[in-house]
This record gives sequence, structure tokens and C-alpha cells, in this order.
Amino acid sequence: MFGAFGQLGVELVRELQKRGWAARGWDRAHADITDAAAIEQALADYDPQVVFNCAAYNQVDVAEKEPQAAYAVNALAVRNLALACRQVDAKLVHFSTDYVFDGKARQPYAEDAPTHPLGAYAVSKLAGELYAQAYLDRVLVVRTSGVFGPGGVATARGNFVELMLRLAGSGQPIRVVEDHVASPSFAPALAARTVDLVDREQTGVFHIGGGTAISWFEFARLIFEVAGLSPVLLATNEREYRTTARRPRYSALSNAKMERLGLDPMPPLREALQQYFAERKELAAR
Ligand SMILES: NC(=O)c1ccc[n+]([C@@H]2O[C@H](COP(=O)([O-])OP(=O)(O)OC[C@H]3O[C@@H](n4cnc5c(N)ncnc54)[C@H](OP(=O)(O)O)[C@@H]3O)[C@@H](O)[C@H]2O)c1
Repeated sequence: MFGAFGQLGVELVRELQKRGWAARGWDRAHADITDAAAIEQALADYDPQVVFNCAAYNQVDVAEKEPQAAYAVNALAVRNLALACRQVDAKLVHFSTDYVFDGKARQPYAEDAPTHPLGAYAVSKLAGELYAQAYLDRVLVVRTSGVFGPGGVATARGNFVELMLRLAGSGQPIRVVEDHVASPSFAPALAARTVDLVDREQTGVFHIGGGTAISWFEFARLIFEVAGLSPVLLATNEREYRTTARRPRYSALSNAKMERLGLDPMPPLREALQQYFAERKELAAR
């Protein structure tokens, strides 16, 4: 597994080990996925059956200033990985994003909805999907949305929950957009459903969003409610709160394809947040 120290990577390693797989995780220091020779060597040495790629360049706004950096990690490196997987006859499980869509929909996106990325990060992620599928038949692309997992406490980028907690700690009013809707996804459940798909030998594109379409403002409200905090939370909108990158206004993902296979639905958001805070507390106590 590459990107094993990211918030999804740590959960996937944990989930695979729980199910008795001999999982080996590499972080960036041990395997930079933009280094084609290192990736090829790592796979040749380890000879895996399945390669999970959780590594990604996720800085959506910064990517507008350095699109090459985003493209190198999210697109060209995925091409390297796909080629290396082909050499050892391994399946590739690759993660992509709800940002491949333009957000004009009014209901959760299905896998076959037309893609139309709105910025450099989104273009690079879509290109990564295409590279993976161009070089491999045995590839599973999992698109997800607004990932939050307890691993985010320790990562450089964190996640939306950690950002909200930090802002609450500042004592200032917090403004969150109410006109952008996504389906925030709990990393441990995302990891478990992904392994379920691998167990069922699925290939192609699957959506695993959090199962609830919710605005970022409403999500922030739920986070504070479950955390037992009451900062001043104000709704704002895209017009008032400009970001460097354009983002889809509506990017909730439909999990119907996954659920039709008999996989468990994702946990309700409130439950996911309760588990998040419980695990966060445990981590802090260690
Ligand atoms: N986070 C979200 O809200 C979100 C939303 C939709 C889709 N996704 C997708 O879900 C997947 C997992 O995301 P996540 O939330 O777990 O991200 P994350 O916590 O930011 O983890 C990404 C990991 O990739 C590593 N990485 C970056 N560049 C690398 C490179 N060149 N070689 C090796 N490792 C590298 C990072 O290491 P460093 O810390 O050293 O940079 C980090 O450990 C990604 O494909 C992402 O695009 C995420």
C-alpha cells in the first residue's frame, strides 16, 4: 500500500490486518510514488496480489498555483503504479474524488454520470483514473468525498473535523459555506467497504461516499453538536467566501452500486462522528 500514513491509508492497513491479510504499507519517506524506479522495485521485491494507492496530492487551492505538482502525484505517478502492477500481475485499487464532477447535479452522482472537473486538482485526479484504467484491466477506482478519519489528527493536512475543532478553539466566529453540498466519508468505514469490494473481486469505478448529502455548514453544526461544543457558527456562501480553486457546489456520491452488491450502507454521519471522537480521545490518551 502506498500513502499508508494518510488518514485513509492507516485505516486500510488496519482493516486488512484485521482480516488476516499480509499488508505492507509504505509512506512517502519509503516510497515516493512519483519515483517510477522505486515503485517498480518495491513491487518486484514484495510481489503483491493487490496494490492500494492512498497517496495523493490533496491541496485543492495550492494546485492552482502548481498544477504540475498535483499532476505528477495524482496522474503521472498513477501511470507508474499501473505499469508496475502490470509487471507483477497485481490488481490496483486507486482512490479518486467527487471533484471529478462539476456539481450541477441535484441528486447524488452515480458512477456513470459525465465527469467535468473544475480545476487543476480535479483534472489531475480524473487523469489518474484514466491512466489506471488505460494500463490495467484489473483496476478498482473508488471515488470518495470529504474523507475524515482519526488518522487526520496526526497528518499534515488533517481534515474538516480537525479544522472545525481548531477554529472553535480560537474563540472567533466560524463561517462555513451553506451552498456547497458533499457526502463526508468516515475513513474506517470507507476502508472496510473498499476491502469488501476487493473481497468480491470487483473492478471498475465505484462510489463510496458517506451516504448523506449535507452542506458543509450543516456538517459543521453536527460536528459541534456531537463534540459538545457551541462556538458561534455562521452560514456563508460561495460568493462571500472565495477560494482559489473552483469547487463543485453539489458533489454528494450515490452508494447505490456498492449497496446493490450487498455491502453494508455507510454508517449514519452522527454515528460516524461519535466513533471519530471516541477514537480521537483514545489516541490522545496514549
Ligand atoms: N481528504 C479528502 O477529503 C478526500 C476527498 C475526496 C477524495 N480523497 C481521496 O482519497 C484518498 C485518500 O486521501 P486522504 O484523505 O487519506 O489523504 P491524506 O490524509 O492527505 O493522505 C495522503 C497521503 O499521501 C501521501 N503522499 C503525498 N504525495 C506522495 C508521494 N509523492 N508519494 C507517496 N506518498 C505521498 C501524503 O504524505 P505527506 O503527508 O508526506 O504529504 C499522505 O500521507 C486520496 O486519493 C484522495 O485524493 C480525499
